[in-house]
Amino acid sequence: MIELKNISYQYQNGEQVLDDFNLTLEPGDKIGLVGPNGSGKTTLFKIIMGLLAPDEGEVIIFDQPREKEEDFIEVRERVGFMFQDSDDLLFCPTVEEDLAFGPLNLGKSKEEAKEIVQETLKLIGMEGFEKKVSYRLSGGQKRMIAFGAILAMQTEVLLLDEPFSGLDEDAIERMVGILNDTDRSYIIVSHNGELIERVTNKLYYMNE
Ligand SMILES: Nc1ncnc2c1ncn2[C@@H]1O[C@H](COP(=O)(O)OP(=O)(O)O)[C@@H](O)[C@H]1O
Ligand SMILES: [Mg+2]
Repeated sequence: MIELKNISYQYQNGEQVLDDFNLTLEPGDKIGLVGPNGSGKTTLFKIIMGLLAPDEGEVIIFDQPREKEEDFIEVRERVGFMFQDSDDLLFCPTVEEDLAFGPLNLGKSKEEAKEIVQETLKLIGMEGFEKKVSYRLSGGQKRMIAFGAILAMQTEVLLLDEPFSGLDEDAIERMVGILNDTDRSYIIVSHNGELIERVTNKLYYMNE
């Protein structure tokens, strides 16, 4: 589903973040990515989504080489990327609109989107939140809605950047349950070694 070959990436200020980096995500893979702050985990996700272009190497997604901006249009429809900062994912006035945004954008009817919103709220344990104002939610509630917004896109692949941070224990258990139940493939970044082991079947460490 995702193949990164010999990827190197350097920011404008000259910092070399990825050097000859290789990674493969196959159907059924639930990959945990562990590494210290600044090791390049978020950078890696941005390269997969085409938000940053690698200096060297190949990005192959769903068996197609992805180079130009237009190559990534399909990637962004078929890979759900949950940003590290949930405020970047919630930009509509209400929770209902934030959850419906992906499905509507992907061509679902208003009726279908409404159904997906209800199913998603039930799944994430937040029934009754549809009319709430997204920006007034607590940090943990926002993160759970951001997770819901990614699930609502119904993509085959998920990239989850520190999804557990700021969640209370109940919400963490709900998220762990959803991740264990899903047959979607994903790459998840977390600092919590115990949690990441519960939701993955492969674990990779990033060094330097
Ligand atoms: N926009 C940027 N410009 C310059 N350096 C950046 C930028 N974003 C991240 N970096 C640097 O790149 C390195 C990797 O960052 P990041 O991918 O966010 O790491 P992680 O997600 O593993 O904590 C860090 O040293 C960070 O300071
Ligand atoms: Mg990061």
